[in-house]
Formats: sequence, structure tokens, C-alpha cells
Amino acid sequence: MAPLDRLDDWDDFVAELYPEPADAGGKRREDYRDFDEPPRDTVREFYRLNHRGQTWDFVQQKKAEYLTLDRAELPAWEALEFLNTLVDDSDPDLDLSQLDHLLQTAEAIRADGQPDWFVLTGLLHDLGKVLCLWGEPQWAVVGDTFPVGCAFSDRVVYPELFAANPDSTNPAYSTPLGVYEAGCGLDRVDLSWGHDEYLYQVLRDCLPEPALYMIRYHSFYACHREGAYSELMNDRDREMFAWVRLFNNYDLYSKSDRPPRATELRPYYQGLIDRYLPAKLNL
Ligand SMILES: [Fe+2]
Ligand SMILES: [Fe+2]
Repeated sequence: MAPLDRLDDWDDFVAELYPEPADAGGKRREDYRDFDEPPRDTVREFYRLNHRGQTWDFVQQKKAEYLTLDRAELPAWEALEFLNTLVDDSDPDLDLSQLDHLLQTAEAIRADGQPDWFVLTGLLHDLGKVLCLWGEPQWAVVGDTFPVGCAFSDRVVYPELFAANPDSTNPAYSTPLGVYEAGCGLDRVDLSWGHDEYLYQVLRDCLPEPALYMIRYHSFYACHREGAYSELMNDRDREMFAWVRLFNNYDLYSKSDRPPRATELRPYYQGLIDRYLPAKLNL
């Protein structure tokens, strides 16, 4: 069985780890960082596999395998419906589908009067999870992302689990800068493989730069929440990360048990899709 019972267990984990300020109820952030409670066993097992398997070589191999973008050619809404076939086995009555989460995120962004490309980004941001439908294990699709090719930061969750990653004892990859130069910019840095980088590559010619940053780095919590890896960033990254942090609030805190009405909302979203995206996406 996969370590996470549901793919969304990971998103729930980060939402607990980084509670919305208004909901924190006076609790200090550290109070949420008790990773080793028994209920967290599945999350820990997930990160054991993730931190062990996400090596420099693994990332290069997955980029070569997926960035040909020739697996499917689908209109965006059909791609979202395809993603939505990824259903959780447990509690089908209680859990929101992938499309529900995307629509809730997008609707929260829309309700705040943000630009239409930002709303569309909310709708699309997790579409890269289709990797699961092509047989990728959870640990290579979701979870916090982090650079490979340089030392792993202790500000990534469960840093001790990186001991099992062969790169952690490879001299080329285990210095603070590793294969990179200081200030080289994140575009030159390879992050662990998952739905963020994959979808960025799918949409890179279609959306404005802040949208692409949100998609590409939304799971890079060590950087956008914890401030790690700033030595690799350039000024553009620092400027654009304000958007990544803004987006993160909608991604984490727009969840409610009331599923949005996809049929009613579709015409509006189809309009956004038609404005920004080609007739079919190359996935
Ligand atoms: Fe995501
Ligand atoms: Fe999300």
C-alpha cells in the first residue's frame, strides 16, 4: 500500500504545519511541528521514500522521461476531468475531489478580485498530479520540493531522513552550493521532481511570469516559508516569491467541505482557458 492513504494527506499535513494566522488560536508555530506523533506515521513514511529517492540522477531521469510532453494532448478542461479520476479510496463521501480543490482555490482568488490569470492559476496549479495516473509513486509527485545537486537544508521537513539519500555523501552534491553558483537564480536549479516542475514546463509559454512562479515553486516550502536556499536565488526570484507566498494562502486555506458546483462554474472557467491556453495542452 502507498504510504499516504490519500494523496491529499500531504496537503493536509502542510496546512497543519503552517496554520492560517487567524486560525492559530494563540498557538505558536512550533506547536504544530510535532512530526513524530503516531498519526503522522504515514506522512513520515512518505517522506522516508521521498528523501531517499529524490537524487540528482533521479531528477535528470524524470525530466528526460516526462518533458517530452508527448503523453497526451487534451483540452485543459478534459485534462482536469482526467485528473479528477484520481479518487481516494477512503471516505468518498467526505473528501473533496482534485477538481473540487482546484475550483475552491480559484474561487477564493476570484472572490478577492485578483487578475484573471491568477484565478486561472488557481484552477490549474495541481494539474501536474496527473503524473500519478501515469504510474508515478506519490513520493515523486507531491511533497515539499527542495534542490538536488547541493546540500539538503535542515529546514526541509524531516531533514534527518536525507541520510538515506546517496547524494548526501557524494562530495559533488553535498556542499552548500554543490553544482550551483551563488545567486545563479532558481531557474538554473533542479528541484526534486514532482507536479510543480512538470506543470510549469507544460504551461511555460501560456501564463504571465508570476503565475509560472506560483506553479513552479508552490511546494518549495523550505524556501518560501522557511527562507532556506536564499543563496541560490537572484533578485527576480526574491521579487516573484511575493506572488508564491500570496498564492500559498489560497492553496492552503481555501478548503471547505462544501464542494463547488463544477457544472455551474465551468462556463466562466472555460472563458479563462480560452483566453490564455491553446486548444489542447501537451502533457
Ligand atoms: Fe500542489
Ligand atoms: Fe493545491
